[in-house]
Amino acid sequence: MRTSLDFHLAAHAAPPPFPAPVAAASLDRAERHRLASDVAAAIAGSLLPSDRHEKLTDQLTESFAISQRERTESRTILAVDGAFGVGKTAAILRWAYLIHRDHAGDIRPGENQPSRVLLEGGRCDDVPVVWLGLKGGQDAGGISVKMLHFLRHGYRGNAQQREIAVGEALKAHRPKLVVVDDAHMLNTRLIKGRQTLDSIKSLNDMLSDIGGTMLLVGQGLVGGELLSDPQLATRLETPLSLAAYATSTKPEIAEWQRLIKACENLLRPYLAPDDPHPLRQHDQRLWHLSHGHVRDLSRLLAAATATCIREGRAEIAASDFERVRPLVRVQQAHHSEELRLGQRKGGRPRAT
Ligand SMILES: Nc1ncnc2c1ncn2[C@@H]1O[C@H](COP(=O)(O)OP(=O)(O)OP(=O)(O)O)[C@@H](O)[C@H]1O
Ligand SMILES: [Mg+2]
Repeated sequence: MRTSLDFHLAAHAAPPPFPAPVAAASLDRAERHRLASDVAAAIAGSLLPSDRHEKLTDQLTESFAISQRERTESRTILAVDGAFGVGKTAAILRWAYLIHRDHAGDIRPGENQPSRVLLEGGRCDDVPVVWLGLKGGQDAGGISVKMLHFLRHGYRGNAQQREIAVGEALKAHRPKLVVVDDAHMLNTRLIKGRQTLDSIKSLNDMLSDIGGTMLLVGQGLVGGELLSDPQLATRLETPLSLAAYATSTKPEIAEWQRLIKACENLLRPYLAPDDPHPLRQHDQRLWHLSHGHVRDLSRLLAAATATCIREGRAEIAASDFERVRPLVRVQQAHHSEELRLGQRKGGRPRAT
């Protein structure tokens, strides 16, 4: 389980750097292999410059600022909803790291974690952001334990004692933001369901009281039980949503092409620096092979660019993408497309 110290260190960790640009053709074999693996590692270790994800975090910044100005009785809870694997956690983590770095300004050299002076004397860790990643069937007790663990407090005692400990810990550390990731995993069913929903409300009340904002992130929140609870519905902002890229309409195609263009800027220095559009003829193929998911796009680009560099080529060929084994999701999507096409033509689908 992650603690505030892990979060603090991660917020300051740099991704693997992109190597200095150099034309692969001018290198010997060993140098090309080294460059290829460094470029692939840099692509895999960084987030592609995606408008969709940036727009989401821009909207979050606005909602967060509004919530931070609200009175402290019971602040608006923020939420982000989106399908599995579209990049919610990665985008929101990056945004939360920024908030952490903004607020934990007085990090002293040699200290692992910033700390601040308590009104009542002594010092405690400065924890601007609390990040709770939930597991299946988590209930009210589970959230308290996660919170106390993140804040590096002990969590002995019964449920009521732990809830009091959470209140005390929040008062000491005064987080600005508490993110509950994978909030769809909260157990809102059966007898414990009411208790879990009540605990979210009471956690939000405690947090509001010390000037914090709560953000729920999950899959299928809209239409789910968490958002259908009238008590939460009165304090939850309509969730922001994040979806994979699509190419059904002209604006969607333009958006996908913008993403491909932004990726070209990353790769161009290692391919043909004078070619303005090294990926242009591949944009449709890349969509077909990724189904609009940034994770798949990143895998495809890392592998194809590395192959080109290793072989001393300046141009990516369509066959470079075929070397990447598709994710099961993409394979399933292709299978359903084939079934649909087969049915439309009245023929039998091709066996795979
Ligand atoms: N902008 C990006 N560029 C490249 N890869 C990305 C980007 N955003 C996310 N990813 C990668 O996509 C994968 C899925 O991302 P993430 O775990 O954030 O999705 P999620 O929506 O939170 O999924 P889940 O619903 O399963 O929790 C991860 O491997 C992540 O590193
Ligand atoms: Mg996630």
